[in-house]
Amino acid sequence: MHLTVDKMTFDVLISRQQIEQRVRELGEQITRDYRDKNPILMIVLNGGFIFGSDLMRALDIPVEVDFIKISSYGDQLTSTGEVKMKKDYDSLVGGRHIIVVEDIVDSGLSVSFLKNKFEMQQPASVAFATLLHKPDNSRLDFGLEYVGFEIGPEFVIGYGLDYKQNWRNLPAIYVRVDGRESEHGA
Ligand code: IMP
Ligand code: MG
Repeated sequence: MHLTVDKMTFDVLISRQQIEQRVRELGEQITRDYRDKNPILMIVLNGGFIFGSDLMRALDIPVEVDFIKISSYGDQLTSTGEVKMKKDYDSLVGGRHIIVVEDIVDSGLSVSFLKNKFEMQQPASVAFATLLHKPDNSRLDFGLEYVGFEIGPEFVIGYGLDYKQNWRNLPAIYVRVDGRESEHGA
């Protein structure tokens, strides 16, 4: 089913059922890895809130939740290359196991910024769970522990991901299928 947004065309890339299945698998994996560790799920706002809430309910261990808000995108289709802190978390993370929950890792700028930020607080560990990863775009000097799906460089929306703050409510991931980002970006 096509979806038209600002004259751009989107199609389903990952269905609701595929997301549910993968979130269940990631939940089982994290449950095994963090038994007796009482981790803190650090949900990155805004995009991570839907994946984070589903992932949290797929965990069968005691787990805390906290939130951090950053932005690296503005309202554009491509990264601005700059990470801004919009809201800091409240938890004491020293000595704790932190699982940072992202909607997507694109350039890798956001997760690199967050890894540095958390490691300065001397947690017991920092791991990343992201629903989506665009490996073609990312320049990372560390691994991502929990990745839902690797996807191409095309712009996607839905399940937490926005276009100009809208469409986060779509229950599936939709991908732009007409033309290249540069035609509409910046
Ligand atoms: P990064 O810092 O370039 O890795 O970008 C991470 C952030 O950019 C994500 O948390 C998203 O909010 C946003 N982002 C990256 N790619 C997309 C996309 O295809 N659609 C919507 N948002 C995206
Ligand atoms: Mg965003």
